[in-house]
Amino acid sequence: MQIRFADSRPQGDYALVVPVAGKDRSSLAALGESQQQVEAALDRQRFESEASSASEQFISENGSIRRLLVVGTGNGEAGGEAAEKLGGTAAARLQTSGEKTAVIDLGGGKYDADAAARVALGAALRSWRYDRYRTKLKDNQKPTLDEIVIVGGGAGAADRYQQRWAAVVEGVSLTRELVTEPANIIYPETFVERVRKSLDATGVEIEVLDRAAMEKLGMGALLGVAQGSVREARLLILKWNGGSQGGQPTAFVGKGVTFDTGGISIKPAAGMEAMKWDMGGAGAVVGAMKTIALRKAKANVVGICGLVENMPDGNAQRPGDVVTTMSGQTVEVINTDAEGRLVLGDAITYVQRTFKPGTIIDLATLTGAILISLGHEWAGLFSNNEELAGKLQEAGTESGDKLWRMPLAESFDRLIDSPIADMKNVGPREGGSITAAQFIQRFVENGVKWAHIDMAGKAWSDKASATYDKGATGYGVRLLDQYVADVLER
Ligand code: BES
Ligand code: MN
Ligand code: ZN
Repeated sequence: MQIRFADSRPQGDYALVVPVAGKDRSSLAALGESQQQVEAALDRQRFESEASSASEQFISENGSIRRLLVVGTGNGEAGGEAAEKLGGTAAARLQTSGEKTAVIDLGGGKYDADAAARVALGAALRSWRYDRYRTKLKDNQKPTLDEIVIVGGGAGAADRYQQRWAAVVEGVSLTRELVTEPANIIYPETFVERVRKSLDATGVEIEVLDRAAMEKLGMGALLGVAQGSVREARLLILKWNGGSQGGQPTAFVGKGVTFDTGGISIKPAAGMEAMKWDMGGAGAVVGAMKTIALRKAKANVVGICGLVENMPDGNAQRPGDVVTTMSGQTVEVINTDAEGRLVLGDAITYVQRTFKPGTIIDLATLTGAILISLGHEWAGLFSNNEELAGKLQEAGTESGDKLWRMPLAESFDRLIDSPIADMKNVGPREGGSITAAQFIQRFVENGVKWAHIDMAGKAWSDKASATYDKGATGYGVRLLDQYVADVLER
């Protein structure tokens, strides 16, 4: 699907999309002699212009028939999220409609350059789909829409889109692809290969550690998780140096469990297929690195993905095993299904020792408990630094990748003390997301600002939204990109 900006409507066949804001139907003047008839139809349909609502009609223009989609944009401002919803709604409605081209006529000057660019962003994000394994799609299920033309937005919309949002679409698409792929296709080695191909020519430097290299470094916790799988673990390191030379980098660290059976503490069968997306944190890190590289962000960032498969096997680690982490701290593995924190602990030690970042942000589909706390609307945010937490929450609000702050405290930390080792990998059932965060914090060195994002409820969605269909959401890419833009590029 192509996005294009134009000053006026093109010639020929296309579906016309016109936004209507609340009770103000002045935008329908664009319809010329059809306006009255369309308004009457809207009334008959009890159309109230709620955000993302749409009325499909046919009008005649110069003797031929044209599909018209009137899209409600609610009562608020024309920009931001409302603009994305408009583009997303148009794309979703028209993608398999039979139309090849959609023209979104923003007329009237209410949409400034960024608002118009965000209409395009919404349309592009909502158009993403992955049909690789669908060999029997019926003709009328196949996408037909191959071009969306945005007409009548403020001057500079095309530049704004190219400079900022086109890169976001690329990053989010990569993340969604990785998250969508099943675990027989994407496992640590192939995750690395896929990322290598996708980041080719972006200027991102790539380094990969295999098992032997990680053994040498003493990453016993990460390797303990991987040891039950025939798929060898990898640590993927991505470097983007767009900032000042030698400037202290910021680190993004992602949980990349390419499949989580739970290991010997095996999960129930029902719904286990969902655990193919237990690499959503790593997926977000990779997508964000692609985005910031494509838009040449003036920032120094390293992205680290701890890639493992958690399987039960004759060689798998057992409940009660004690592993030694790269930090030197020991862990009693009470539950092999609490594997993400084991992977992150070693990845965080590695990034601190190797790159001395001032700030670390980790993303992980870490706990079922965060779904109990926050459902599917917000990801949980844990941080040892007020300013960092505030900036991330702002970035979350701006980008739509929302974050809700959760507590950390010494009293929770005590709950993961172990009688035999320095710590155990699970606490009690209550407060499960918090003790998981406390575990990770034990690997954060003095003076490092750190935030942990538990996105278990966000990587995948069972229902469509304005900017994604059911399935992989791409959560985290926009959040990190916005953080880079707001904080690191200032
Ligand atoms: N990957 C899961 C967390 C998860 C659960 C993500 C459901 C998405 C949906 C994680 O590795 C896990 O299994 N966590 C356990 C921890 C428990 C054993 C302390 C959990 O949340 O049940
Ligand atoms: Mn698990
Ligand atoms: Zn997991």
